[in-house]
Amino acid sequence: MNRRADFPLLAANPDLHYLDSAATSQKPAVVLDALREFYETSNANPHRGAYELSVAATDRYDAARATLARFLGVADADCLIFTRGTTEAINLVASAWGWRNVGPGDEIVVTALEHHANFVPWQQLAIGRGATLRICELTSDGHLDLDHFRTLLSSRTKVVAFAHVSNALGTINPVRELVALARELTGAVIVCDGAQGVPHLRVRYDELGVDFYAFSGHKMCGPMAIGGLIGPRWLLETMPPYQMGGDMIEFVHDQTTTWNVLPQKFEAGTPNAAGAVGLAAAADYLDAIGMDEVLRHERELVSDAYARLAAIDGVILYGPPPSERSGVVSFTLDDVHPHDLATILDGDGICIRAGNHCAQPLMRRLDVSATARASFYVYNDKSDTDALIAGVLKAKEVFGHAAV
Ligand code: ALA
Repeated sequence: MNRRADFPLLAANPDLHYLDSAATSQKPAVVLDALREFYETSNANPHRGAYELSVAATDRYDAARATLARFLGVADADCLIFTRGTTEAINLVASAWGWRNVGPGDEIVVTALEHHANFVPWQQLAIGRGATLRICELTSDGHLDLDHFRTLLSSRTKVVAFAHVSNALGTINPVRELVALARELTGAVIVCDGAQGVPHLRVRYDELGVDFYAFSGHKMCGPMAIGGLIGPRWLLETMPPYQMGGDMIEFVHDQTTTWNVLPQKFEAGTPNAAGAVGLAAAADYLDAIGMDEVLRHERELVSDAYARLAAIDGVILYGPPPSERSGVVSFTLDDVHPHDLATILDGDGICIRAGNHCAQPLMRRLDVSATARASFYVYNDKSDTDALIAGVLKAKEVFGHAAV
């Protein structure tokens, strides 16, 4: 499978090797067309006008939600709240649920491989409410240490938050096992960061067993600034709104206000209807490929890249074996700073991410300040890996000579 021709930016730049899809994916023409088509045929403010065009905009927005709900296995589409992305979705839960339900003496369990978006909101909630943040450590090959996880759980645990897939290592976490342990040992609310799950795995929310599942559109071929939060109706209905403004109200009295029903209660202000329509087109695009095929393709590429990088003297690879990860490979090369490596690669049209990957707690545990990360997706093929390997060898030579 190579879908490169579906992506205008890649088709227009045949020499570009885009290996940074974990940061954001490229967008296929069907998504760009859907955005344009919405603005050309249906642009009005959803839920606000009695006129036909506004009704059309509302219908398109609702249809996009239904498409996403089908794609993600959510039976009750009203429980899929559109947000700007994963970060906003997790902040929504930490604010609207957390500040009311977590207090002194309570505990919040997160893991050492979280993206800051699923770490800092919980850390700050713990600080603000006098609770304790407890962090599940990792095994040497970048898996969660389930024995340690178990020891952290108790009746004091109010929140258990973990990534579906690590953005920095590609580790796929055993969600159902984590959920089973959390349900057995705690009464906690379970939050899963699906930012790197939805783009690469077949996600069925109703089967995962988590309470909240957050995701971003821009990593799954969709537009930027649209994503979502899925949660159980009973819990969402107990939560106060996250933001106040238009559309999320029922009645505004002089001194009090009552709230709209789901999902509007959590969607204050003009929604990103075009983004939702574009995201639905992205879900349809991935669905047509098949998520099992997406993962198979990534695994094939990442296995090849992993083996070839491992064969280079001075390369250190981080995380689990390729068969246990998504399409991400994180590595360092000798004492070359990952930023310098990325700059050398960029000179040959190879885009990778270098840095801490918004995962400083993880970097501390790996005992590095940064790694280089190549991430593969549906439009990559072996020629991208060939370019990556050639670029790493070139960097090794450049920096090797420079050190002499
Ligand atoms: N979360 C994104 C990444 O991992 C930005 O690169």
